[in-house]
Amino acid sequence: MNVAPKLGPDFALENADAKDLGELKAQAEHCTRCDLYKYATQLVFGEGPATAEIVLVGEQPGDKEDLAGKPFVGPAGLLLDRCLEEAGVDRSRCYVTNAVKHFKFEQRGKRRLHSKPNAGEIQRCAWWLGAELEILQPKLVVALGATALYSLLGPKVKLTPERGHVLRLANHPPVLVTIHPSYLLRIRHEDDALANRKKFVLDLEQAAAFQST
Ligand code: URA
Repeated sequence: MNVAPKLGPDFALENADAKDLGELKAQAEHCTRCDLYKYATQLVFGEGPATAEIVLVGEQPGDKEDLAGKPFVGPAGLLLDRCLEEAGVDRSRCYVTNAVKHFKFEQRGKRRLHSKPNAGEIQRCAWWLGAELEILQPKLVVALGATALYSLLGPKVKLTPERGHVLRLANHPPVLVTIHPSYLLRIRHEDDALANRKKFVLDLEQAAAFQST
């Protein structure tokens, strides 16, 4: 039983307990804490070095990630990679994960459309995210969007007022609040998309300072 102070919001009363990330992932392969495992192809666990100073947290795997079994390998992931590079963050030294570890979707004919995880699914999956953070002890966690922020800090902390800020709370690594890269992919107007992309890169530049040179 894990007795260390719990990372994450009050609802994550307990985290999984494992000696390292490999053991944690092996436990998560058998997760039945919510129903999402029944429909997804596979678990998509976090990836990256155990020495990562920065942990990037997204929402949940998408269609591509579900098939590949790896986080952020689809269009949002490619955009994230480019923006991290522009911001001077070395992605290969980051640990990349999601608030929810199984793809949630609605089947429309042959297509699987992304469906937002609900509060209960996020809360149940915080069991794994909290444990990932306890093992990694990162210098900074980047919350990519509202679901990640909710999973990390609970319902009281809202994205819009905190966006671009590094929040420092007791018993928690600092959290940089920013948008999810898929938001940029949905902006139709080119000028708007460019301006928002620049703002996202500016947010990520703050993360670069947490990575040793
Ligand atoms: N969006 C996410 O939040 N996570 C992924 O892994 C891919 C897309």
